Amino acid sequence: MYKSKIAGVGHYVPEKVVTNKDLEEIMDTTNEWIVERTGIEQRRWFDPDKDTVANMGTRAARQALERAQTDVNEIDFIVFATITPDYFFPGSGVLMQRELGLQGIGALDIRNACSGFIYALSTADQFIKTGMYKCILVIGAEIQSSALDKSTEGRSSSVIFADGAGAAIVKRSENGAGILSTHLHADGDFAEELYVKDPGSSRKTRLSQELIDGPTFNLTMNGNTVFKHAVVRFSEVINEALKQNNLSAEDIDLLIPHQANLRISNFVQKQMKLPEDKVFNNIMHYGNTTAASIPIAMSEAWEAGKIKDGDLICMAAFGSGFTWASALMVW
Ligand code: COA
Repeated sequence: MYKSKIAGVGHYVPEKVVTNKDLEEIMDTTNEWIVERTGIEQRRWFDPDKDTVANMGTRAARQALERAQTDVNEIDFIVFATITPDYFFPGSGVLMQRELGLQGIGALDIRNACSGFIYALSTADQFIKTGMYKCILVIGAEIQSSALDKSTEGRSSSVIFADGAGAAIVKRSENGAGILSTHLHADGDFAEELYVKDPGSSRKTRLSQELIDGPTFNLTMNGNTVFKHAVVRFSEVINEALKQNNLSAEDIDLLIPHQANLRISNFVQKQMKLPEDKVFNNIMHYGNTTAASIPIAMSEAWEAGKIKDGDLICMAAFGSGFTWASALMVW
């Protein structure tokens, strides 16, 4: 069995900054409420003339390739995590593959929402372990802002979710460093607690003007239920990873949680008894970018010198499905 490691990370966020003050102009909310309940100060929304999920992914991928000192043609597989693909089908993986000029290699889309990046990383890890592939491009990219109810009615979700992309180059490890374990979980009993109902293939009409104008076309979230489950599952899945590797929370050099909500991250930090500087948060600047949040955070943490060779890095996520997951690695 081979071992895999992240050789480089990159990210891209749309240029348009939307502050809480900007949201005050379009819905009944306040900067104070948003900061207190979520920690978010601003987020990015895509430019329909410029940004697509695939091309944001491509821009993140190019940065990751440069940092991994890897030629694009070394990539032998793509795993693209998104729940907001550019088309109903095919997935955004093939669109990004085309943009990178990699026609012919396999491209897989993963639809596991906020846990999507860790599911994608775990998938890449399995392919590298078996020796089937040597260099896999793993992407998390989302455009959530086009499916948010930006009226007062939708304010509890629309202030949270946002757009962006992150990428990781996952390669066969040559020096013993790399991914120690990944743990993936799901519980479909809670599928409708955080979801977008339409367009859906099981209804008579996939899409109509009535659906577009109605409430089911936008993201729907039962925030309280999500919160209660998230705080339990995050710690649970981190402890599962530590236990499997005979490690303890004190061994973690940096925890990169999915950027769901600053209150959730702070809760997990206290539960795990980690010092503040061992948990990386950037939700203040970007909101919750679903599958993109972990690779964006990882890329910024790396830029800030918070991830160094030999560090024990833990990632954990919780989101729609419900799904939850963790990945533990030596950088
Ligand atoms: N601005 C101002 N007021 C708002 C608001 C907003 N953006 N959104 C909701 N409110 C109001 C509600 O209407 C309600 O008013 P009422 O008491 O007059 O009825 C009040 O604030 C409390 O609403 P509630 O939904 O109970 O708030 P909350 O404290 O649970 O916070 C969330 C809402 C969404 C921030 C919180 O539930 C949460 O963080 N959930 C987890 C969400 C998450 O992490 N999702 C991503 C998972 S991947």
